[in-house]
Amino acid sequence: MSAILPGATLGILGGGQLGRMTAMAARPLGYKVHVLDPDPSCAARFVVERCLTAEFDDDFAAADLARRCAVVTLEIEKIAPASMAAVRRYAPVRPGSEVLSVVQDRGRQRQWLTARGFPTVDWRRVTSVDELCRAVAELGPRAFVKSCTGGYDGRGQARMSDAAEGARVWAALGSAPCVVERAAALEAELSVLVARTPSGRVAVHPVAQNHHDDGVLTWSVIPAGFSDKVLKEAAEIARGIAEAMAVEGLLVVELFLTAGDVLRVNELAPRPHNSFHATEVGCVTSQFEQAVRAVCDLPLGSTEVVRPAAIHNLLGDLWVGDQPPRFERALEIPGVRLHLYGKRVARPGRKMGHLSALGDTSADATARVIEAWRRVQA
Ligand SMILES: Nc1ncnc2c1ncn2[C@@H]1O[C@H](COP(=O)(O)OP(=O)(O)O)[C@@H](O)[C@H]1O
Ligand SMILES: [Mg+2]
Repeated sequence: MSAILPGATLGILGGGQLGRMTAMAARPLGYKVHVLDPDPSCAARFVVERCLTAEFDDDFAAADLARRCAVVTLEIEKIAPASMAAVRRYAPVRPGSEVLSVVQDRGRQRQWLTARGFPTVDWRRVTSVDELCRAVAELGPRAFVKSCTGGYDGRGQARMSDAAEGARVWAALGSAPCVVERAAALEAELSVLVARTPSGRVAVHPVAQNHHDDGVLTWSVIPAGFSDKVLKEAAEIARGIAEAMAVEGLLVVELFLTAGDVLRVNELAPRPHNSFHATEVGCVTSQFEQAVRAVCDLPLGSTEVVRPAAIHNLLGDLWVGDQPPRFERALEIPGVRLHLYGKRVARPGRKMGHLSALGDTSADATARVIEAWRRVQA
């Protein structure tokens, strides 16, 4: 396998904040970057050489992107199979179609994990209101219902505890196949970032601890402060998944920690992930640089944490009031930095940027970033 060297052009399917930050990491390494995104004012637009405006199922446009690129990667899962195939005719696409087809559908993803013995919460795939009600009765009293395709940031899912809600939940989730899961009693949430090159080199960053509210990531810190046993087991599970899938690029594995230090895989993302944005300020190698190195088959970077670092998301809700966010108040705190994604329009729930903070310990970094976020409120 030969490396794709600096000077080459990298293509990215998707120009959201993850594509933007990947492009920003690719540039000092000497790569040119082209992206494809349906939104003409997508976040990556102003940091890349070329931005194609096209839908993710536009295979003609995908081929157009790939024709000028040495390698193509992605920052979003919802790329149509025909677009992946079109890219593949002109350039390697990393991660590939097989990885994407497994993770694109929650049912298939769960099936893949269960068949290979990776631990998950108990789950069922359902294709009708009757099956939904039966699964909730079996897995209840509290269950999560998640549509198999299209969900993110807590969207495309519902909680359900009573069969009487079946018809409403089924309709609300688009009357399409869903996964029903037993609600886990979470002690904590964590994630693991694995990078794997086409020639099989693997590097695993220290585990991140994550806090969600209403299904959306609120803050995240690296390194996570769990027992060595939990950290080692989480890293082994994630590495095992990345190797079994032969992922080329990144794989982030979200895990639940439940009573008695039991870990269960929640979901997989074959791309940079919100829970590792703190690697930009706290680690020798950011997740974005690692993604570039991995898809270009370069040596992977050191995953060492130089200083504990935390991030807090900035959602569009902050921009909706009469007062603009008070960033200057957050920036007074030593070790705090601001990263905005350049999105033109703020909407409630939309990820507009994040604050980061370094600290002497993970708890210190977390406290600083939460305090910074409090100060931003008008
Ligand atoms: N089975 C479950 N038990 C407990 N909490 C859950 C469960 N499924 C999801 N959650 C909560 O909702 C969040 C979002 O769910 P997730 O499946 O990761 O969807 P998304 O793709 O939107 O991130 C999780 O990080 C967790 O906080
Ligand atoms: Mg998730």
